Amino acid sequence: MIIGIIGSGGREHSICLSLYKSKKVKKIFCFPGNAGTENIATNIKINLSNFDELKNFIFKEKIKMIIVGPEKPLVDGIVDFLEKNNIKVFGPNKIASQLEGSKIFTKKLCEKYKIPTAKFGIFKSFEEANDYLAKTKFPIVVKADGLASGKGVYVCENKNQAINAIEEIFKGKFGFAKNLLIEEFLQGEEMSYFLISDGKTIKKFQTAQDHKRVLEGDKGKNTGGMGAYSPSRLINNELDKKIITKIINPTIKGLQDFGCNYKGFLYAGLMIIHNEPYLIEYNVRMGDPECQTILPKLKSDLFDIINSCCSGNLSNTEIEWHNTKSLCIVLCSKGYPDNYENNVLIENMNQIKLRKNDYCYHAGTIKKEGKIYSNGGRVLNFVNLSDEFKDCRKNSILLINKLNWSNGFYRKDIGYKVIE
Ligand code: AMP
Ligand code: GLY
Repeated sequence: MIIGIIGSGGREHSICLSLYKSKKVKKIFCFPGNAGTENIATNIKINLSNFDELKNFIFKEKIKMIIVGPEKPLVDGIVDFLEKNNIKVFGPNKIASQLEGSKIFTKKLCEKYKIPTAKFGIFKSFEEANDYLAKTKFPIVVKADGLASGKGVYVCENKNQAINAIEEIFKGKFGFAKNLLIEEFLQGEEMSYFLISDGKTIKKFQTAQDHKRVLEGDKGKNTGGMGAYSPSRLINNELDKKIITKIINPTIKGLQDFGCNYKGFLYAGLMIIHNEPYLIEYNVRMGDPECQTILPKLKSDLFDIINSCCSGNLSNTEIEWHNTKSLCIVLCSKGYPDNYENNVLIENMNQIKLRKNDYCYHAGTIKKEGKIYSNGGRVLNFVNLSDEFKDCRKNSILLINKLNWSNGFYRKDIGYKVIE
């Protein structure tokens, strides 16, 4: 089959590589992809807000299935558009994507279906929110409703920080804001819980924990993710059961009551407190870098799994995993997540010799005249599978040292909670 993948990150390179290994995949197009996907697929620069342009390309190249990596096109309704044009597509439709596209949508769902989550209030103006601050205890969490590339969440230790957050959101920092959320701060440990669904059947797709902060010891600014490991150290049978019965099942029921079936990857961002799960957020896609961490553990053919989701046949498809640990370290451009330089040559790519359980996924990279240049804040992902997390980390760091890229930096402590 000829397949198209939308997106350009490490997540999409890892999906691309897993599909490339399937005997059933003849050719892959990436819209737009990166220097890594370019080695195994055809990268196409296209305006992703112009769905018609994409549709015409799909017909011209006889692409039979589209996989959507990032949230933005999903929230914009790309699945609805492609399906209307009889194109097979893997990802949730516009209504289901509201789980990520609107934090208020998800909070209301939690309220109606009694899904455990942080207590919250919805505020329609600066004055309303400000009045609330006078009578609340800190810390609290202030959130913009819509997509904000992970930047619309403010954990506020005091009133001044909260006023600043409310001001920024209502002044339109993340687009026009009709309202915002203020949440109780939950103290626990976060876990990423993944599922995959065809709209009828839902199956688990592993757990992970990521490191969102830029500095070692989980300090400094929030980023898209500096590294991750799988499985999560928190998961156990009892917790797993609670997540399914208290969070996932009621969510699926809620969507069904809206007349909506969920097809695609579903990522529940959870706070675990004394072995009890609380929903922090939903994402309607795989995580990045969790996807790069998890996919190498997949024993089954990813194409079979995704294709069966598109044809409503997931119940008959086995998802088998290698029983191993996996850890991913993200190599970033110096300055990320603030200002950083693009177009910096990554000289020693040919020094990276991958052994059996090593993976190097590209993210912000671009190829020019056969050379690889940086093209983003998160540049490369180094993943290793081993029996022990400490060996996963050691092996990835060995590879990063071979590269010795002077404009790069990475956290050497990924997985510190599972490594002595
Ligand atoms: P979100 O984009 O909603 O996942 O929020 C980004 C990050 O902010 C999360 O991964 C948490 O680390 C933190 N966060 C969000 N909401 C809460 C909350 N209610 N309590 C504690 N931390 C939170
Ligand atoms: N790693 C966090 C995310 O993908 O949103």
